[in-house]
Amino acid sequence: MQRFAVLTLLAVAACNSGSATQPPQARPTPRPPTPRPAPSPAPKPDAGVDVSGLGPQETYVALCAPCHAKDAKGGAADHAPSLVNPTFLESASDDYLRKSIALGRPGTSMAAYGKAMGGPLDDARVDGIVRWLREVGATPATKKLEQVAKGDALGGEKLYTEYCRTCHGDAKTRGEAVHLANVQFLQLATDAFIRHAISVGRPGTKMPGFGAVMTPQQMNDLVAYIRTLGGGAAAVTLLPAPTGKEPLVLNPSGKDPQWKSLRAENGVGRYVSVDEVKKALDDKRKLVIIDARPPSEWMRAHITGAVSIPYHDMKRLDEVPRDGTWVIAYCGCPHHLSGIVVDELRRRGYTNAAVLDEGINEWHRRGLPVVAAEGVASPLPEPVPHRHR
Ligand code: HEC
Ligand code: HEC
Repeated sequence: MQRFAVLTLLAVAACNSGSATQPPQARPTPRPPTPRPAPSPAPKPDAGVDVSGLGPQETYVALCAPCHAKDAKGGAADHAPSLVNPTFLESASDDYLRKSIALGRPGTSMAAYGKAMGGPLDDARVDGIVRWLREVGATPATKKLEQVAKGDALGGEKLYTEYCRTCHGDAKTRGEAVHLANVQFLQLATDAFIRHAISVGRPGTKMPGFGAVMTPQQMNDLVAYIRTLGGGAAAVTLLPAPTGKEPLVLNPSGKDPQWKSLRAENGVGRYVSVDEVKKALDDKRKLVIIDARPPSEWMRAHITGAVSIPYHDMKRLDEVPRDGTWVIAYCGCPHHLSGIVVDELRRRGYTNAAVLDEGINEWHRRGLPVVAAEGVASPLPEPVPHRHR
């Protein structure tokens, strides 16, 4: 009974088109075979929905089967791909699967299911689903993939237009198959993964293998062209993970910052502007800057000197000095995750804690100091979490 309620709720939340009273499986999905505008992004699955009592398979059935089908072979709605095809699983790392689930594919109906993105699944649950998919598909990621030599994107474009575009769409529009231009896809998929899919296809689906009809060079050219589809977004090599040993206090012998104004909430000063924090750093003021996002975001880009203390694992707050040192927390949203960290600091009795009002994306956009992974030119649009502060 309770499970049924969860299923209905999520099905409606996940595939929010057509009648809300109809389960998505029953919804007719006539799709033209030619590229068409990408479906509007799915609304966030509700993090408030309790899947905590469900095992991996039950969680999958409740959250994923409406689109990827009960047997995970895809195609139940929105042309969701198979998640258990052997040629997919043998080439997709666990990390690829995990991040595809947690971060979603912005701009398609594949939402971000990770807690950090406002979704219902914590890391352990995402891992559980990945293990379950491996079991169902009976395929570990053990395939030794061929190295991909540099291809010629211009040559690849001709091939793509002729052989791939009708199904996979172009830079802006999704066809009926996986949108290869999706920035999240391009960041997770290695050249070797893409080339493997082109070469062997996805048996049992519409994706043919081209290995018998194309030369290795032609397939490399295709990979090179596909890389240009995301506006030149190459696979990003993230910064090394935070060690937890990064120094907390910036300018430890500096003076405390003097904020001109803190924008208040409920009568309590809470938000400090990018300009003021920038000035405090220029003036070498003593400060702790906390990146409240999941570490993967810190590894993509963070404010120079910021330490990673994600809102879902705040152990390092124990180290914040109790001597009035100011703490600024930020995220991208721009207040949601940073707000959680500031609330926790307040709960622990710290009063000199504030949220960076405009968030890191504005900081980054203005060209203020960041440490960024190679290839992260400007901030990614971050999906809006379902709760706001
Ligand atoms: C509303 C429909 C929908 C739901 C619900 C959904 N997905 Fe997806 N998923 C998709 C679509 C569509 C894609 C392909 C995105 C694209 O167009 O590029 C996808 C892509 C994926 C991928 C990447 C596959 C690949 O070939 O690269 C994974 C992994 C995945 N989904 C797992 C899940 C899991 C696990 C769940 C449940 C927690 C889930 N999805 C829920 C529609 C959905
Ligand atoms: C007739 C339609 C069709 C054509 C033509 C086609 N594909 Fe596909 N392709 C698909 C479908 C459908 C899938 C997903 C299959 C599944 O469910 O696993 C796919 C999957 C892929 C994937 C894997 C994506 C992922 O995340 O797993 C890549 C890469 C790919 N195709 C590249 C190409 C390229 C490059 C071409 C042209 C040389 C091409 N495809 C031609 C339908 C097509």
